[in-house]
Amino acid sequence: DMPGMDHAAMGHGAGDVASMPAADSLGLPRGLPLSSLSRLQNHGGAGRLVGQLAAAPVKLPLLPGKPATTFWAYNGQIPGPAIVAWEGDAVSLQFTNQLSQPSTIHWHGMPVPATQDGNPHDPVLPGQTRDYQFRLPADSAASYWYHPHPHGYTGQQAYMGLAGVFVVKSRHDPLAHLPEQWLVLSDLKLDAQGQIAANGAADQHDGREGQFVLINGGWQPVIGLAEGERQRWRIWNACSARILKLALPAHDVQLVGTDGGLIATPRGIDTLLLSPGERAEIVITGRFAAGKASALQALPYHRGKAMGPEQSTTLTLATISRTGSKATAELPTTLRPIAGLGAPAVKRVVEFSENMADPSAMFLINGKKFDMNRVDFSGKVGQVEEWDIVSQAHMDHPFHIHGTQFQVLARTDDGVWQDEPFLAWRDVVNIPAGETVRLRFVQHLPGLRMFHCHILEHEDAGMMATLDVQA
Ligand code: C2O
Ligand code: CU
Ligand code: CU
Repeated sequence: DMPGMDHAAMGHGAGDVASMPAADSLGLPRGLPLSSLSRLQNHGGAGRLVGQLAAAPVKLPLLPGKPATTFWAYNGQIPGPAIVAWEGDAVSLQFTNQLSQPSTIHWHGMPVPATQDGNPHDPVLPGQTRDYQFRLPADSAASYWYHPHPHGYTGQQAYMGLAGVFVVKSRHDPLAHLPEQWLVLSDLKLDAQGQIAANGAADQHDGREGQFVLINGGWQPVIGLAEGERQRWRIWNACSARILKLALPAHDVQLVGTDGGLIATPRGIDTLLLSPGERAEIVITGRFAAGKASALQALPYHRGKAMGPEQSTTLTLATISRTGSKATAELPTTLRPIAGLGAPAVKRVVEFSENMADPSAMFLINGKKFDMNRVDFSGKVGQVEEWDIVSQAHMDHPFHIHGTQFQVLARTDDGVWQDEPFLAWRDVVNIPAGETVRLRFVQHLPGLRMFHCHILEHEDAGMMATLDVQA
């Protein structure tokens, strides 16, 4: 029932880590300037985005002196072409599946009709083409992304390279005057031959983590920044499973946006926790200081009580090199109004759990494994839903829902409720082991919407469920 998965192989253990060749032994080049993402060609005119995306295997030279590495890529590019559109645009994207597996394209975080959202119910079979069509509503400017979502193959297709960003821009962007850097963080796991390694038992259980965290496909790139310069960074965590606790120790960092776009007002931050699927926008101001690392780092993060060995050292994801001095551009103190959603019409509980005793149904939502033919909840268009996502699990699981953005109201910390300090639009939130997160949302369009853990191995193993939104 779960193609491509070897359930018998699942279980605790760090055996894969031991057999994974060390990062330094592979000779992957590092320290090159950050590559910018190439853009999808737009064949439409003003107000229309028309483009084509083909998923196919491609061989790219990665390791000097080794045969090229086979990826699966959109239009031959890793990451896939960046799609840029404007609020109000009519979008028409023609997808051709040149893989030997079914696929779909899911427009992660975007308010698109359910029939256009790449649900596992709507596979695009090998050799087939389909058009995805939708209009971008007002106030939808944000940093989204797109990736496959076929039943059982999402993790493999994503780790083979199928993912790209989709940025929706606003004509009234208060930060339009700032230079931008777009950073797509992804995880790469190579075998000794320099090919993308298959998942082992630990990957299936804990989620796949490789030797490399790449940015825009490069290892430890160099990003230029001047003393005093302000840059707007959009950051995507496109890793299958890695929770990134990001830090930029030397520089001044303000959080200005989350998954669903700008927040109301900039907020100074020291660290930024981005779980798989999650995005953030920050404004970084160059403050080069002797004795402080000028780097984008991933700090040690412990994903839960019963986890095997995991990242215990600080990773350097990118270095930030000084490019002179610049005048400091203004950072507006108000960015975008965000209103609360008001009293809920429905309250629900969504429980994440693990059942180590049953390898065929190990990751569960409300005690059940995903079934495409089952509706788990019925809701209504326009109705305020309040969900408590309760973890009975031993590791963190990031919650994600399709079709809309939610607001986190409160979370528990060691079981003690804490109100969320500010309103933000999100579509992914990490649920730490044993904790609860309370959130509210409205679905504005009818249809079947998936909600799931965004550790892709868990999603494929069935930690997913369906909300039927009725007109
Ligand atoms: Cu990014 Cu249902 O996923
Ligand atoms: Cu999604
Ligand atoms: Cu999970």
